[in-house]
Amino acid sequence: MYNSKKSIYWFTILEDMGQGAYGQVKLAQYKPPQRGKVVLKYVTKKRILVDTWIRDRKLGTIPLEIHVLQYLRKYPHRNVVDMLDFFEDEVNYYIEMAPHGIPGMDLFDYIELRSNMEEAECRSIFYQVASAVRHLHKVGVVHRDIKDENIILDGDGNIKLIDFGSAAYLKNGPFTVFVGTIDYAAPEVLRGQSYGGKEQDVWAAGILLYTIMFKENPFYDSNEIINAELRIPYRLSEESESLLRRMLSRDITKRPTMEEVLMDPWLKNFDADSSLWPSSLDKNHSRSQSADSTAAGQ
Ligand SMILES: Nc1ncnc2c1ncn2[C@@H]1O[C@H](COP(=O)(O)OP(=O)(O)O)[C@@H](O)[C@H]1O
Ligand SMILES: [Mg+2]
Repeated sequence: MYNSKKSIYWFTILEDMGQGAYGQVKLAQYKPPQRGKVVLKYVTKKRILVDTWIRDRKLGTIPLEIHVLQYLRKYPHRNVVDMLDFFEDEVNYYIEMAPHGIPGMDLFDYIELRSNMEEAECRSIFYQVASAVRHLHKVGVVHRDIKDENIILDGDGNIKLIDFGSAAYLKNGPFTVFVGTIDYAAPEVLRGQSYGGKEQDVWAAGILLYTIMFKENPFYDSNEIINAELRIPYRLSEESESLLRRMLSRDITKRPTMEEVLMDPWLKNFDADSSLWPSSLDKNHSRSQSADSTAAGQ
């Protein structure tokens, strides 16, 4: 697949998408436009941290993000983004992906738009995220940056997990360096303990579930993540609240695996259904700072 001749000059850049910590993500089109539109993620070489390069016999030394996406091409999943190709020049790597949904609409924006999501819709979105993460864990990958900004959706309620910029292979764990986003970080990680990865993805998915249901973050700083009691602003179904509490167990031995999450009564008999697309805004929800920008090089 790797095509050393391909360059950014093969494309017309149509528009900027997203607001990633590092980079730039653009909607682009081949010149001449025979192959439709693609999304290009620019990964600037000089900003890639030393320990996130990986040596591969076939691919050479490449960023771990691309290595993981390339590995995942062997194990596609409907809720995980597909990399179509990648190429590089002096300055950047470029990850070429199929655009999913409304260009530039991620779950963060969607939550802002949909102030009154029904529980059924929350469940549909969450179910798909959980299936994506279960799949990753099964094939030996941890995502380590699950959050609303890294989930994209189309107008029919189908979601895809994106952004493997903090992902790692399970076999290289346990990990000591904090990556990802503080708001979604598990208490044990904030306490500086070494961590395996899967349990922390479950915690982050729990924070995500809370955010989808209540349109706000459960905890506002690391002290709260470590100590504060979970505030439930208003009652939803008993099943959803109980799953939420289980996923946000500070005792890691009580936290379910992703497999167990999907077997929870709230999700077990769920059959992915559709969602609606109206709009209005909600304020109690702000973009999280990624560790890449706040604590790079730790
Ligand atoms: N394949 C894609 N289709 C549609 N939007 C995308 C796609 N990939 C990325 N985006 C948008 O670009 C943003 C940044 O991409 P991401 O991979 O998360 O970069 P970063 O590592 O900079 O956070 C996402 O939050 C999303 O809005
Ligand atoms: Mg991102």
